[in-house]
Amino acid sequence: MRKTIYTMNQTAAHTEIMHASNNKTNTFYADVIAGLQSTPKHLNSKYFYDAVGDKIFQELMDCPEYYPTNCELEIFSTKTAALGQSIIGDGDAFDLIELGAGDATKSTHLLKYLQDQHVDFTYLPIDISSNVINYLTVKLPLSIPGLKMNGLNGEYFDMLKKAASLSNRRKVVLFMGSNIGNMPVNEATEFCKVLREHLNTGDMALIGFDLKKSPKIILAAYNDSEGITKRFNLNLLLRINRELDANFDVTQFDHYATYDPETGACKSYLISQKNQLVTIGKETIRFIKDEYIYMEISQKFTIMQTDQMATNTGFRPIDRFFDIKKWFVDTVWMAE
Ligand code: AVJ
Repeated sequence: MRKTIYTMNQTAAHTEIMHASNNKTNTFYADVIAGLQSTPKHLNSKYFYDAVGDKIFQELMDCPEYYPTNCELEIFSTKTAALGQSIIGDGDAFDLIELGAGDATKSTHLLKYLQDQHVDFTYLPIDISSNVINYLTVKLPLSIPGLKMNGLNGEYFDMLKKAASLSNRRKVVLFMGSNIGNMPVNEATEFCKVLREHLNTGDMALIGFDLKKSPKIILAAYNDSEGITKRFNLNLLLRINRELDANFDVTQFDHYATYDPETGACKSYLISQKNQLVTIGKETIRFIKDEYIYMEISQKFTIMQTDQMATNTGFRPIDRFFDIKKWFVDTVWMAE
């Protein structure tokens, strides 16, 4: 009897997983087709991060030209106490929510500090990847004894709603890694407004922005000499081949990165090397020679722009933490 119930539950669970993954594949397919049937052609960089893409991004973080991760790690490992004190505020208990937690390498410095100071907080990592959440749920309590945590697997704003329903404690939201730069400035502003709507007065956000700097340094980070960024971009075409029954020949696409010091927009493109047809499922996409696919924006900011973004979206900037070179900033904002 027990066994039957167990088997039924297993089947139900499996069916649910299958439906979820079918839905994901359908959205991926619809987004890819819509993007490649548009003029100009574009793909969404959020799709870079499948298992292979995650690995290539790890390689990228280790390459000499790609500086943002190292800068923010420096901030979290050398300014830990100041960061911690900034978000502790008046010392009342709070929920520390991280959007897109990944492997939490940087935030672990902060978590350890807060735990050492006997601060009353619960860590709520949010990630779209269930693998990430499962991994953190196993790993973090081992490396940070006594850590209270509750991993939330899903979309940022759905999970923020869930976090609000779980407790009415003060919220501190981490949005690190200059992930905000993957949105054009107007979208990033909209994102911050929606974030503010999910928070109460007195809640905080800690946001990592990559700053404007020497254009050569920025461009090199997105055009590394080993070609890791190129592989990172081409992997999305290979992912489309793997998951959506397509036949991209990645030797016929080249990677091209630009940085505009005026707007602070760093953009990546894949350039078709010839006239070619690509089939994706039942659709055929035509590329003419030198046509581009717009792949990604990594927006760079001035400090003044980050302050403006705060005040335009219902926050007040209260603290800033820089790496030694001042290439990157983690800003702390309070919801007004
Ligand atoms: C993970 C979004 C911060 O835009 O710098 C790295 C992704 N793209 N190299 C960034 C990325 C090309 C990265 N973020």
